[in-house]
Amino acid sequence: LALALGSSASIHAGTLETIQHNHALRVCFEAGYMPFEMKDKNGKDIGFDIDIAKLMAKSMAVDYTPVNTAWDGIIPALMTDKCDIVMSGMTITAERNLKVNFADPYIVVGQTVLLSPAYKDKVHNFRDLNNPSTIVITKLGTTGDIVAKKMLDKAQIRVFESEADGVMEVLNGKAAAFIYDLPLNAFYKAQNGDKLIHLNTPFTYEPLGWAIRQGDADFLNFLNNFLRQIKGDGSYDRLYQKWFED
Ligand code: ARG
Repeated sequence: LALALGSSASIHAGTLETIQHNHALRVCFEAGYMPFEMKDKNGKDIGFDIDIAKLMAKSMAVDYTPVNTAWDGIIPALMTDKCDIVMSGMTITAERNLKVNFADPYIVVGQTVLLSPAYKDKVHNFRDLNNPSTIVITKLGTTGDIVAKKMLDKAQIRVFESEADGVMEVLNGKAAAFIYDLPLNAFYKAQNGDKLIHLNTPFTYEPLGWAIRQGDADFLNFLNNFLRQIKGDGSYDRLYQKWFED
């Protein structure tokens, strides 16, 4: 048994060794979740998560390698070693936590309602959407998807593959509301002014965390200490202000 354990330990290099061996931190994310990860006018990836990922790579003295991945395949991509970590505004849920490990939360958000002004007299909170004649949009495979189907079981829920397409349905008057994480809804509200109403009291509690493969205590230890460091030394606050308070 000792021999078997010894040999299995030696063939499974931890992620920290892989990162140093590759001289690169490979980060899975899906662009489109503003302002965490998005494309600028030139197609460059920018955002809060991207900046933290670059800082993390720098702290390891390795390159930052972006791995842009469709949301509904992002956990499988991690599990099949397409990347070392998911840094993509992922909510720490019990269901996901059965498959992956999460570092401590780096921010807490919740679901809010981005409402069409046509519904301003009828809908004052998310419960008012729970009506068979009401079309509610969210994004495939997200906590918005899970929560809308559970809490708005009488409404017509339609899922889109991108946040932008989903919000467009509300802007075009094809749907009453878009259900999603507060920061993205606040971002679209700021861009569209009176064309959208943001009911901005979150109705879920959602800590976001970086996901890694199970069974890698060394990497998890690194991540939680890295997070504590950037929260204490001002770099987290600087990035928070850059992306959320401008
Ligand atoms: N927080 C939500 C979730 O975990 C949405 C995250 C979407 N992230 C993205 N990069 N598209 O389901």
